[in-house]
Amino acid sequence: MKEYLTEQLEETAQHIIEPPSSKKTRVSIIKLFHELEDAIEQDLWEHQEHITTPKGSCIAPVEAAHCMLDTERTTIFIQGIYAAIKTLQEKHPYKTLSIAYMGCGPFATLALPLTHHFSSQEIQFTLVDIQEGALQCVQKLIEQLDLTEYFPTIVHHDAATYTPSSTPDLVISEAMGRALLYEPQLAISENAKQFASDSTIIIPQEISLSVLLHKTKNDHRRPVDLGTFFTVSKDTPTTDPDHIIEGDVTLKDNLHSDLPYHVCIATRVRVFQSHVLHPDDSLITHREPLNRRYKKQPNETAFHLQYPSGSTEEQIRLEVRDASNKITRLL
Ligand SMILES: C[S@@+](CC[C@H](N)C(=O)[O-])C[C@H]1O[C@@H](n2cnc3c(N)ncnc32)[C@H](O)[C@@H]1O
Repeated sequence: MKEYLTEQLEETAQHIIEPPSSKKTRVSIIKLFHELEDAIEQDLWEHQEHITTPKGSCIAPVEAAHCMLDTERTTIFIQGIYAAIKTLQEKHPYKTLSIAYMGCGPFATLALPLTHHFSSQEIQFTLVDIQEGALQCVQKLIEQLDLTEYFPTIVHHDAATYTPSSTPDLVISEAMGRALLYEPQLAISENAKQFASDSTIIIPQEISLSVLLHKTKNDHRRPVDLGTFFTVSKDTPTTDPDHIIEGDVTLKDNLHSDLPYHVCIATRVRVFQSHVLHPDDSLITHREPLNRRYKKQPNETAFHLQYPSGSTEEQIRLEVRDASNKITRLL
């Protein structure tokens, strides 16, 4: 059984970095998921509880494992991390790169395939998760796969407050819901900015949110794109301790005033350089439909959005404003 798992990990790792076809890569990820699930089935299904923190919900290990099956997400993240490691290796050719993996889940999905491409002299991971069950599973997998030398440190901690003992070269995290709702991604990314050095690469490099208006609820073909209202990256100013997402978009003059639009938030994730998840490419960038409709009035010029990251759709405050920035109404 261990041989199958190792073979499947190697095949998937190869297919992700040198994709034979997107279909083969997808199939390969699904097969790896089932091998990993078989290896720790009992332990995985024992852990079904979410943990609620002030910064968002930390999903149960069994659900975190299933994130692997969001195959475009998994592929683009691993390709981006691979490219970031190559970039760091050019700068520091003989260094063992330290990688802090915040919110690793039970499969350390974004790390395991990289062990096929790099030696443990080249990369070493610190795995962090708030779910003890996820760490028990990942520990077991690493031992079964004889990969312990890649993972010297496994930490049970909230990644929104964790500071590694030495500054990592690379920080990776994917604990996000669409529109930065539901899960604590923003708090984790902002915490990483606090302990990163100038040369540390933080993945995702950038997450941006924009507003789309649809003519009908399920008409995804030609929405009106009102542009970006919020961006987080290493270069953006740190959000306040409550990690409030806030920003404006301009209402275009050519919006119809006779029909109510459906309002959506689109998410775009630049994992690293050209490795990007565009809106609707994956579950985490799927557009978030708000339960609000908007019919334009002549004096209205902008939307102002404000909500705590990691919260829910109902907590999004959506103000409509006029040219003097006065609130005309709440949607
Ligand atoms: C969406 S899953 C993704 C799992 C894995 N990183 C992947 O990409 O497939 C998010 C993981 O982050 C963990 N997590 C969420 N919030 C966390 C926090 N504040 N501190 C530590 N771990 C957290 C969850 O327990 C879960 O294992």
